[in-house]
Formats: sequence, C-alpha cells, structure tokens
Amino acid sequence: MFKEYFQYKGISFPGLIYSPRALEAAHNDFQVLDDDVFNVTYQKSGTVWMLEILSLIRSDGDPSWCRTVPNWDRAPWFETVLGLGRAQRNPPPRLISSHLPVQLFAKSFFSSKAKVIYTVRNPKDVLVSLYHFAQIFRPYKDPGSLDQFLDKFLEGDVPFGSWFDHVRGWLQLRGRDNFFCISYEELQQDLRGSVERLCAFLGRRLGPAALDAVVANASFAAMRRNRMSNFSLSPAFILDVRRTPFLRKGIAGDWKNHLTAEQSARFDRVYRERMAGLGVAFPWDA
Ligand code: A3P
Repeated sequence: MFKEYFQYKGISFPGLIYSPRALEAAHNDFQVLDDDVFNVTYQKSGTVWMLEILSLIRSDGDPSWCRTVPNWDRAPWFETVLGLGRAQRNPPPRLISSHLPVQLFAKSFFSSKAKVIYTVRNPKDVLVSLYHFAQIFRPYKDPGSLDQFLDKFLEGDVPFGSWFDHVRGWLQLRGRDNFFCISYEELQQDLRGSVERLCAFLGRRLGPAALDAVVANASFAAMRRNRMSNFSLSPAFILDVRRTPFLRKGIAGDWKNHLTAEQSARFDRVYRERMAGLGVAFPWDA
C-alpha cells in the first residue's frame, strides 16, 4: 500500500493511513456531538498549529496536556484508519482534526451545533510545504521536481484533491454561526488577537495570563521542542522527521525562496481563474 493512492469519490488518498472503509464511515456513520470542535484544513495549512492552539485554549493555557499526549490523540484525524476509533473513544468535549473536503465530511455535522474552525494558507506556501513534506512522509509518492509538482498541485492531482476546490467548498459555510475561518497569515501577524477571536467563537473566556500562556506554548519554537507536537514520536518508516523537521520553517512567504518568476506567474493564472467570484480577500491577495 506504500506510495499507492486510491481514488475515493474522485479524490486521491494515500493507502495505509486511509482506506475507503474508514472514509465511508467518517462520512456516513460518524456521530458528531454538539460540543465537538473540528480543526479543518487543506494539508500543510497550519493544522497542527491550530491543534496546539485549540488544545491550549481548552486547558486555559496550561501546557501539561500538550506536553504529555501526542497531538494525534488530542485531536485525531477522524477520517484516518486509526483516527476514527481514537476520535470515538475520546471523552467529550472532543477536539477532532480533518483534511476532508466538505463534500466528504461527516454528514451528521450539518444537523449539529458542533463547530468547525477552517484554517487557510497562501497556496504557494502550501505547495512548498507539501513539496518538502512529500519527501519525508512515506505514504506519499516522490514529488519529483518542484516544477513537476507545481503542475500536479494546480491540477489537483495530489492527495485530498485540489486546494481550490477544498477552499471554495468549505467557504460555502461562511455566515453560519458554527463556522469560523482564519488564515495562517493572521496567526502569524497577530497570534494573541487570533486566540482572542477563537475564544470568542468558542465561547471561552481566558484571562491575560492564560492568553499569554497559549501564545507562548503555541509558538514555533515551543512546538518544535515539544515531542508531543513535533512528530518525532512517529515511526521513521512513516514520517522521517530526521531528514526535514515537520515544523520546517514556519514562515509566511517562503514560496519566494523556491518559485521562479515564471512558476509564480503560472500559479497566479490558475489562481485567478479558479478563485474568481469567491468574493473573499485573503491576506496574500493584498
Ligand atoms: P512549513 O513547511 O512552511 O514550515 P500542517 O500542520 O497543516 O501539516 O502544516 C504544517 C506547516 O505549518 C509547516 O509549514 C509548519 O512549519 C507550520 N507550522 C506548524 N506549527 C507552526 C507554528 N507554531 N508557527 C508557525 N508555523 C507553524
């Protein structure tokens, strides 16, 4: 199953970690509870960062939980083969992660009061981050050259499908009380303010000291040190973080160090076409 993808309802998934059965169960059978909080992203958009922030908000800034329980147990990816059971076993209120496109998400969410936090990131940085990740995550195919991988990314010929479809799909939920969209770039620019906005959405009140603790413990440096958050506990035959750390650079705009002017212009052409009419001004559009 290594390095082989299967298609599920038109989207590629890597074998081993995912299976058609687990995806079916996530979509049809997973019972969403009203107090569930979902951390949803297109891959490489800041999933584990948001996971850490939400874990810390839940524990009023106390880092003990984050330092003793791996992130994949605190907020399991419920669509994965192992994550489904983990998510079901966790006591409510549950934190749950997902990379699913909206059309494959748990059906029962749509008639629940559960909350979704959707984190978006400049897709050029997603591309660069994914390009590096694909070289250390064994279930993924070798990405080839960045130029080849760029075309695949723009066509949506990568696991979880097209970034454009994912973002457009989830953003249809804008305006619902239980949907909150934030960008990686906003987290970068103002982490404290972002945490305050997240607390308001979640109905949580954190005092100044607790807010400071969330910000300090969710910093790139703190997360890189934390073995429960940096994936150093995952077996190297699945994820080889000795080659490239999972928390690789942690900056906005790294694409400028990797894409040529021609590649960037190629990206922009597709971006303009695919995002037309969405009516959302992302920080990177400015
Ligand atoms: P880079 O590869 O650009 O460094 P995901 O969790 O969705 O897979 O996203 C991983 C990306 O988020 C990586 O980007 C990683 O470094 C970045 N990231 C994780 N935690 C972060 C933090 N605390 N601050 C900034 N970036 C973070």
